[in-house]
Amino acid sequence: MALVESRVFSAADSRSSVTLAFERVRATTQALCEPLETEDFVAQSMPDASPAKWHLAHTSWFFEHFILKSHLRDYRSPHPQYEYLFNSYYQGVGPMHERSQRGLLTRPSVSEVMAYRAHIDAQMIDLLDQRGADSQLEALTTLGLNHEQQHQELLLTDLKHLFSCNPLHPAYRPLHQQADRGALTPMRFYTFDGGIENIGATGASFVFDNELPRHRVLLEPFALANRLVTNSEYAEFIRDGGYQRPDVWLSDGWALISEKSWRRPFYWSEELDSEFTLSGMQPIDPAAPVCHLSYYEADAFARWAGARLPSEAEWEIAAAQMPVRGNLLEANVLHPRAAEDGAAHDESQPRQLFGDVWEWTASAYAPYPGYRPLPGTLGEYNGKFMCNQLVLRGGSCVTPSSHIRATYRNFFYPNARWQFMGVRLARNV
Ligand SMILES: [Fe+2]
Repeated sequence: MALVESRVFSAADSRSSVTLAFERVRATTQALCEPLETEDFVAQSMPDASPAKWHLAHTSWFFEHFILKSHLRDYRSPHPQYEYLFNSYYQGVGPMHERSQRGLLTRPSVSEVMAYRAHIDAQMIDLLDQRGADSQLEALTTLGLNHEQQHQELLLTDLKHLFSCNPLHPAYRPLHQQADRGALTPMRFYTFDGGIENIGATGASFVFDNELPRHRVLLEPFALANRLVTNSEYAEFIRDGGYQRPDVWLSDGWALISEKSWRRPFYWSEELDSEFTLSGMQPIDPAAPVCHLSYYEADAFARWAGARLPSEAEWEIAAAQMPVRGNLLEANVLHPRAAEDGAAHDESQPRQLFGDVWEWTASAYAPYPGYRPLPGTLGEYNGKFMCNQLVLRGGSCVTPSSHIRATYRNFFYPNARWQFMGVRLARNV
């Protein structure tokens, strides 16, 4: 009898935990939109960035298409063409609206999209209340929530880009006053022995398919920096003519910076003394991590500094035993901040592995040995992008803390700069 009761109790408990997670994540997305005016929801500043309104609708469509339509026999979408408008890249679902034209969708209106979200919320919560113990439903809902958290980050990085295009330099929200972080932490290197190591997730809790399977890698001895590269260090690279020295650049990078006349990080002023932030133009903090660099710039800086970028396996071995703590979304800073000085930090551990900026690695985004994409159309989520992109690790100042872990693999094309992307140095030993 006691056994039966405990089984019933744990089923009810798990049902409510996924419902609570659903409510929490969906509410966070809405809260991130609170500072916005209606006009801010609509415009699209470049093909890579999407309007806030599109993010709000697309994340709702994900639950509608992958859960509600298959779990509710009589489900009716509020509009039959939302599937066409808000499908991002799932060819298996059907044709979709052109990515670069998302900013032309003045309709549905913001209030119609908010009503769409409320409709999806009500349907999902009903379904979870009725069938939350269904493990497949729980797994799909968890995937949908992790998907929504990815879009929370994109919502902020896309708004930052949009606002940066406005000569009025609007602020998403006022500057967060930061406590003094103390003196700049000197850069030191931790040495790792290498050998045969294991990386990748075990799959014991939610992970994306690209983190699996756990597998062996062979690492030569290496060294990894104790903190991220700072704005002052990157400014030294610029002043030393870093952008004029072909010897430190990859061929594709040199071609790109020559064509685009790139001479500094994405949001820096020409005078190298201020940068555009989610709080408008602000003075550059010399001790804060440099961010909004392409892979090519990160790689050129590393070569100029007599170092290199870490591989993703090196990064993961260093991060595997570290707690997931740092300047993440919940810190509510929304900008990278200087590493704590030595007095406030355990010197035996690297700083800033989680949060602040995504760290470019030298690793191509490729399938792990034995990788299997999710079955069906959801197999398009990650697997089809495993070509010509590089892996970034560790999350940023706009990544939700419950979304990041040591095995997490983000990926972008090497010319991308609008995410919070920065550098940690590595060396051969
Ligand atoms: Fe998406």
